[in-house]
Order: sequence, then C-alpha cells, then structure tokens
Amino acid sequence: MISRDTIDEVRNRMDIVDVVSDFVTLKRSGQNYKALSPFSNEKTPSFFVVPGKGIFKDFSSGKGGDAISFVMEHEGLSYPESIRFLAKKYGIEIKEDARSNADQETSGLRDSLYLVMAFARDLFVKDLNHSEEGRGVGLSYFRERGFNDRILEKFELGYALDEWNHLEKSAIEKGFSEEILEKAGLIVKKETSSYDRFRGRVIFPVHNLSGRVIAFGARILSKDKQVNQPKYINSPETDIYHKSDALFGLYFAKNSIRQADNCFLVEGYTDVLAMHQAGIENVVASSGTALTEQQVRLITRFSDNVTVLFDGDTAGIKAALRGIDLLLAGGLNVRVVLLPEGHDPDSYSRSVGNQALVDYLKNAAKDFISFKAGLYASETGSDPIKRAESIREIVSSIAKIPDPIKRTVYVQETSSLLKVPEGVLITELNKILLRERKNQSQPQREEIVQDPVVYQEPQPADRTDPVQMVQEQERETLRLLLNYADASVGETHLAEYLFAELDDVKFSNTLYAGIFSEVRDRWSRGQVVDSQHFLEHQNPEVRNLVADLVTPRYHTSDHWHEKYQIYFPGEKEVVSNLASGNVIRLKFRLIQSLIQENLSKIKTAEESGNDQKLDECLSRHYHLKEAERALAGQLGIVVAG
Ligand code: CTP
Ligand code: MN
Repeated sequence: MISRDTIDEVRNRMDIVDVVSDFVTLKRSGQNYKALSPFSNEKTPSFFVVPGKGIFKDFSSGKGGDAISFVMEHEGLSYPESIRFLAKKYGIEIKEDARSNADQETSGLRDSLYLVMAFARDLFVKDLNHSEEGRGVGLSYFRERGFNDRILEKFELGYALDEWNHLEKSAIEKGFSEEILEKAGLIVKKETSSYDRFRGRVIFPVHNLSGRVIAFGARILSKDKQVNQPKYINSPETDIYHKSDALFGLYFAKNSIRQADNCFLVEGYTDVLAMHQAGIENVVASSGTALTEQQVRLITRFSDNVTVLFDGDTAGIKAALRGIDLLLAGGLNVRVVLLPEGHDPDSYSRSVGNQALVDYLKNAAKDFISFKAGLYASETGSDPIKRAESIREIVSSIAKIPDPIKRTVYVQETSSLLKVPEGVLITELNKILLRERKNQSQPQREEIVQDPVVYQEPQPADRTDPVQMVQEQERETLRLLLNYADASVGETHLAEYLFAELDDVKFSNTLYAGIFSEVRDRWSRGQVVDSQHFLEHQNPEVRNLVADLVTPRYHTSDHWHEKYQIYFPGEKEVVSNLASGNVIRLKFRLIQSLIQENLSKIKTAEESGNDQKLDECLSRHYHLKEAERALAGQLGIVVAG
C-alpha cells in the first residue's frame, strides 16, 4: 500500500490544469479552462477545468473529479496506480506501507499489462545493449541506419533475441504469469506449447500519451533474408492497446506540437526517428495504415495544423490524398510536403543531411487544397471529362471542411487555380453538402449550439412527474450543501440549516440520499463538508455527480436561466434565499408526490370496497392538501383544490 504521506503529498502538489494539459490542450475561459472532451467525439467544447476547485467536469460524458480521477479515467488506471503516476510526474518519492502484496492482486488487469509491457521493454533494451547477439545484430543494424545513442535511448529501442522462449522464461522468473504474457500479446499460445511473438527483430515500443509502453513494432533485420516474413510484426490489440487510437511518437511529440502549433505526419517508425534526429520533434506516424477518426482527434488535442509528408512517388499519391479528407473533416488545417522522387523522410535526411531536410520541409509545404488542385490542374489540360472529374475530386475534399468560411476561401482559391468559375464550384459543392446532409439522420448540430451556453441541467424534469420534481429539488439541496456549507443562513450555517430543516425528510433518489447522509454523518463527527472527499469517492457515480454539482455554471440569458435553471457566479450573495426556497420547494414537491401516491391508494380502496382503508386515505388526503396549501402559500403558488 502506498503510504498516506505519499498520497497527501501528491494531493498537495498536483495541479489539475497541469495534469490535464499533459493530455489535452486547454483554452482559457474566464477563471476556468475549456477544451474538447477527451472522452467523447464532440465538436463543441464541453470539457471544463476549474482550477479554483481543482476539478474537471466533462459534460459530454458526465465524468468529473479531481486530478487523480482524471488520471484514473483517462489512463484507465486504478487509484493506487494513478497516485504512482502523479508521484512520478512530480518527482515525489513513493513510500509504501507494510501491507504490500495484497493490493497487487486487487489492482486491475490493465495495471498488470502496463507492468509486463514495461518489463518486456526493459528486457529488449538490455538485450540490445548488453547481449552479444543484440550488439552484433540489432545495435549494428541501428547504427548502419544512422541512428545515434540519444535516439535509441529516448525511444527505448530494443532487440528481441532470436530464441523461442527467452522473454517468456525471463518474465515468468520475475513472477509474471503466462496468462498475462499472452494477454499482453507478448507470447503466442498454442495447444501444448507457447513461444515469444517477437524473435530476432529490432524493437520499436509504442508509448501512450503518458509515456507508458502499450505495444511493440518489431522489424526484421534485412530484406533478403527470410523473404517470406513480414517486415514488421506488431502487437495485437489488447486491453491497453487499440491500434486505431494510438499514434507512434505522440508522447515524444506532444509538447513540441503544441509549441510549433503544427504536427508532421509521416508513415513509419523510422521516419519519426529520422525527423527527431534532425531536430524536428513535432512528428507522429500513422504506422503505415489509413488514419482513423480517433487518431485525428488525438492530434487536434495539441494543434489544429497538420503537415503530411508524402513519399515522392507520384503513382500512389492520389490514393494517399484520399486519406487526408479525414483530417479535413476533423477540422484541421492541412498542409502537405511531397518529398523528392524515391525518398521518405528517413532516406532523404540521410542523403542530404538534417539541415537540408529542415529547409526542405519549410519551403515545400503547400496548403493541401491548393496542392491537390495544382496536381489535377497540371494533368487535366483541356480534356473536358477529366476536367469535370478533377473538379468533383477537389470539391469533395472542400466539402469535408466543417468551417463554412474556410470552404468559401478554398472555393475562391480553387477557382483561380483551375480557372473554373466560382459558381460552377459552388454548385458542385452544394450538391455534395446537400447529399451528405440528407444522409445524416441527426439534425445539424451547428444550428442548435450557437448560443454560448456551456451547461444545461440534465434534461429539465418532466413537470408532470412528481417523483422527478422531488429529485430535482433533492439535487439542488445537495448542490447548495456541497458549495455553500459555510454560508450563513439566518443565525446559523447553511449546512446546519439544511440538516435541521430536512431532519425528517428521506431523499427518494438513493444516490442523493447516500451523499446527503454521508455529509451529515461527517458533519456530526465534526468534519467539514469537503467535496474533495466525494471527488475521490470509490463510487464513480458519486465522483461524477459531485464534480457536476461543484462546477460553477454560467449565466447566459434570463430565458436560459428560467428554462434550464442555469446558475450564475454571484449566487453566493443570495444563497440564503436559495436555501430556504429549496427547502420549501423540496417539501412542497414531496407533499405532491405523497398526494399522488395517496390518490392511487384511494382508487384501489374504492375499487376493492375497503371502506376503512378509504376513510383513512381520505383523511390523509385532507391533511396533505392542507400542508400543500401552506407550502404553496410560502412559495406564492396557487394550488388547485
Ligand atoms: N508497417 C507494418 N507492417 C508491415 C509494413 C509496414 O506495420 N509489414 C508499418 C510500420 O509501422 C512502418 C510503416 O508501416 O513503420 C511504414 O512502412 P515502411 O515504410 O515499409 O517501413 P519503415 O518503418 O519506413 O521501414 P524502413 O525505412 O526500414 O523501410
Ligand atoms: Mn521507410
């Protein structure tokens, strides 16, 4: 177990903005920060960081909590692993308490996978640098390709010995199970035997955003030997590795992508290494396959600009260009660089040198649409059919761009490049846009989300459902309690006031009821109301709800305020009124739901001819109605008889 001291130190040191920024680019918004949610595929930012409270809240997925919860959610780690993660980030020494091994069992499968991958990486690195075979074959291969020690170290490159069970044996000796080795994709199990997946190959580890190894790519050493073998063998999909949302090199690139506000996209592992060696660090690789939407979204977390490097063979170029549409659709500004015939970044930097590569990238980068237009313009000449085809081709890319203003600019540019009247392009563009719109079953979001409203209460309660109306008020009680426990209400504190007023009230929503009574218990033991406690609660539902409740809302217009009960900063001044209003409303709604319940009892009693029961219920009805009227009077609502 990690010692309480270490946990406290981590909690004191951790800074929510700093922690989240390792994964998401935050934009300032008043006192707070916002960004596109890293947990969902959204177009309008609804992910908030509130530094004053040390929390994040993601309204699109409902997740929320403190920096520890964020690491847990984002990295899929257990609580202790998240503490370790943050301790490492802040250089805090981890002290363990006595009961050590017990929690190894309870920490999840993902934690074990990270551990075994780290073990494998260390073994591959050791075998590259310290075994005879590794040095003789692996290291000399890397040297031959011109990679220096700094690059080998930084990317944690390694070598897998050409043996069937070397990794498996070493891992099992260290206490890893065969099962976890298989789940990590490190060994392949057959009915009666098993063997290491990677053998006799140089190893490229794939890191996730926080620098943990989640997969390996293993390259064969030479082309002529064993021609029937694939050039690369890669890790299979595992619980920690999903190929479609990993990008090779992103961990090493993210800061410089942010700084340069641009991301270079190349094809292969070796291209990334070559670029780094040339001093260009804002580079990631798609690993030879078509990009996925998730990968595009990953890039947009760090920059809106991407420069794609193409190998210089024109045959494949048009096919490759289609993959770019996904980048456009992701809202990225795309530039392209076509490398000289027969070169990829790696071979080009080796043949002309680092500085020449840097210069080339600077000068040869072209805006994607113009590049594509240029490519087609030079080929079409005066053939009208080809001309129509290329117009459609380019316009279909323009149609992918979500921003209408950018689309307009590109139409103008394409018009002059291709010498086609704008009107022709616009007609073609509208055809495509209309067709796409029809295919979309959902309404266009753009039109709805114009109001800069950043938060809506969960769907306004159904005004005809008394239970929902009660729960809406219960939620409000909790919100006031968690935000303003110390505010004064009359002679006392808000917390005291609520506990006293609601002493005999039982919350109908079990989640709310649990939190309310936990706060009350803690209070009665002299502990202050501490939302932090709930932000680290073991129940994720509690964490999310509390994060939600303590995130300040923004006032937009009176209309919104009424309709969705959006609160505004400054409510502190009126909190006393809010509290008494809430108490009355909660009781009022409770009475109404009791009336409803009683009415159905009356009905059953009538139907079954149970006169005694009927009498009882009718008299109860009378009392409830009286109470309702009294409360309604305080609220200024007229109640129907
Ligand atoms: N790739 C793969 N499996 C293969 C071939 C390629 O996974 N059988 C992926 C690798 O991620 C590779 C990328 O596609 O890095 C690009 O392929 P390629 O250009 O052939 O490989 P390079 O890494 O550039 O290797 P080299 O420069 O040695 O040819
Ligand atoms: Mn290559």
